[in-house]
Amino acid sequence: MRNRRAALAAITAAASLALTLSACGQSGSGGSKEKSGSAKGGTIGIAMPTKSSERWINDGNNVVKNLQAKGYKTKLVYGEDDPSTQVSQIENLITQGVKGLIIAAIDNKSLNNVLREAASAKIPVIAYDRLILGTKNVDYYASFDNEKVGVLQGTYIAHKLGLDSGKKGPFNIELFAGSNDDNNTKYFFGGAMSVLQPYIDKKELVVKSGQTQLNQVTTLRWDGATAQKRMEDILTSTYSSAKVDAVLSPYDGISIGILAALKSDGYGSSGKPLPVITGQDAELASVKSIISGQQTQTVYKDTRKLADVAATMVDDSLNGKKPQVNDTKTYNNGTKVVPAMLLQPVSVDKTNYEDVLVKGGYYTDAQLK
Ligand code: GAL
Repeated sequence: MRNRRAALAAITAAASLALTLSACGQSGSGGSKEKSGSAKGGTIGIAMPTKSSERWINDGNNVVKNLQAKGYKTKLVYGEDDPSTQVSQIENLITQGVKGLIIAAIDNKSLNNVLREAASAKIPVIAYDRLILGTKNVDYYASFDNEKVGVLQGTYIAHKLGLDSGKKGPFNIELFAGSNDDNNTKYFFGGAMSVLQPYIDKKELVVKSGQTQLNQVTTLRWDGATAQKRMEDILTSTYSSAKVDAVLSPYDGISIGILAALKSDGYGSSGKPLPVITGQDAELASVKSIISGQQTQTVYKDTRKLADVAATMVDDSLNGKKPQVNDTKTYNNGTKVVPAMLLQPVSVDKTNYEDVLVKGGYYTDAQLK
């Protein structure tokens, strides 16, 4: 099996190398297999999910910058949200002799075979932002407190509607969750529902569509158009004579789709204001949307810090140092608890974007114009 895979990988290596280098636009080792020796100066493979979202482009660039500052070369690849493309990209990175791997999985369960190859080549693997499931061959996890992301979204909705200060509604809410093949999805949704469910139980919040279970509200590959279609269907089937007061959205790209559906249904006018709508990632378009009064909130996760944590984890692993972690309980991947370093997410809206995002150096005022 191993030999057949290796042969296959070797045949596709040349073609994929072109893809690797052109897709990443980053310096690589020129495709030559790294000679063994000290880790410094070796190449680290970075596999990111998609370029269709600005956050992953920033993540990739920031990881590259951090690793290069530590003396490594890098190969950065994007799987364009196709799990099998990501598997073959990682296979090729291993064939090309990378010393370490940093992976943001597209499908959390599809990497088991390729990570077995990484383990036999003694390549440390860092799960980046999204936990990889069902394998012992993932060494560390660098992410944010994912449940807290959801808690921040749910708390924001309760606060904006006045539920936390005694208003009883009832207010109509619709719920959206992320991709069902992303381990983060259940943490985001669970965190949000830990705040919203008590109001739903008291009937102060009403999910008029009746779609309240995670498997009814997920959005495959976090796709904005999929969310837009679902929101349109809900508006048509359920809201002909009622209005939506809030939408739980787990991610900015999904919020953009939901907003498009709402706007084409007449929301955003004086008689029909837009609902409270959350998001995540503080992507540029969504921060602009918040400033102009459309999306209401986002959850900011500083990708510069996450990139630094992941690069440091791989560097430490390669140099016999134990990477720093702050959670050794939460992230059981079905095979083992993966030691994690979790950073803190921050809720951002119109009132604090300047302080958090501009003063924090994430965006300039000019970018937000
Ligand atoms: C998740 C990530 C979110 C968001 C989403 C869609 O895994 O934690 O921040 O980026 O993917 O890309």
